[in-house]
Amino acid sequence: MKTKPSDRKFINQIEKDVVDFLVGKIRGNLWPYLYGTPQDENDPVRGGILYNEMLENEEDYYLYKFEAQLFQSKGHLIASAIGSNATIIELGPGSEQSLRQKTLPFLRVCPQLSGYVGIDISQDFLNKGLQVIRSELPELSVSGTQQDFTKLESLPDVEKPVIFFKGSTIANMRQDEVPSFISQIGKLAGKNHSLLLVHDANQDEVSLMKAYNNKRMAVFMENIMFRIHRDVDTKGMIPNAFRYEPEWDPNTYDFKHILTATQPQKIHFNGEIVEIKEGQKLHTLSSFKYPIEVFQKLIGFAGYEPLECFRDRSNRMAAHLFQIKSDASF
Ligand SMILES: C[S@@+](CC[C@H](N)C(=O)[O-])C[C@H]1O[C@@H](n2cnc3c(N)ncnc32)[C@H](O)[C@@H]1O
Repeated sequence: MKTKPSDRKFINQIEKDVVDFLVGKIRGNLWPYLYGTPQDENDPVRGGILYNEMLENEEDYYLYKFEAQLFQSKGHLIASAIGSNATIIELGPGSEQSLRQKTLPFLRVCPQLSGYVGIDISQDFLNKGLQVIRSELPELSVSGTQQDFTKLESLPDVEKPVIFFKGSTIANMRQDEVPSFISQIGKLAGKNHSLLLVHDANQDEVSLMKAYNNKRMAVFMENIMFRIHRDVDTKGMIPNAFRYEPEWDPNTYDFKHILTATQPQKIHFNGEIVEIKEGQKLHTLSSFKYPIEVFQKLIGFAGYEPLECFRDRSNRMAAHLFQIKSDASF
């Protein structure tokens, strides 16, 4: 890629992230833009819809199913490790199906639960999710806000908050982003909180490739280029001229979502031109597959120590409970 320097001040985060990505300054930074919503019926930006289609149809995409099994079979163990009177504060709860299969089975077995709070950037997901929980657990105090969880300025002031982040979404963040993201959330959650974080610890390349390197995942991952094309002021970009070709790097636990250009393109933006050659690989985002100890160490950098770790039958999906280290400054 060729770039020309620019000193323009960016106002818009997506624009800044996309420019960093196109000029090759940062790799794998586009995860926040994956779940785009169409603005009208002809809009090709359909990340959230394509993700659900992939979940429903790709047999080998095990993450969702195995995580659901984990909550359904071991939710009571996780709940008893947390203890009574907790308020579960969930980041990015997701679709109604995700609430029904993962969150609800867990909430049902939490002893004397004080409340549930959902925080999601999608108002639609949030409304449907809260509705499910209210109708299934009518006695529980349930609330939610539509917010970007990377930009929170406060969290509800409750006695015993448990920050719940499922779906391995934390593993889409770059490794350098995780500790600062978690410690920022921790500062807002106060002295008496704990963390319940779920990620995929699978290190087996064959099953990883089966899970990700398939047709529906490709359509979902390729959709991010339509989001860039729609939401960033560029010219010359051909959003449908990319082919999904993931790569696994076992040394950095980085499952890289890579789009390979199928046509040469000259992308103009902000007075700059980026040339992309046919066959050039663009690393859009990652799904990190941390081994258990590596993940615990990473969260340790944010000021936490592991309390317990629960795994599904396949030993791939891991739900970690963390508590604040005694010397942490929360
Ligand atoms: C694919 S879903 C994963 C959902 C869910 N955690 C699960 O286990 O199925 C990602 C969820 O996080 C939400 N989300 C993504 N980025 C977000 C952000 N920056 N702030 C708040 N919510 C976000 C999406 O709207 C969606 O509900």
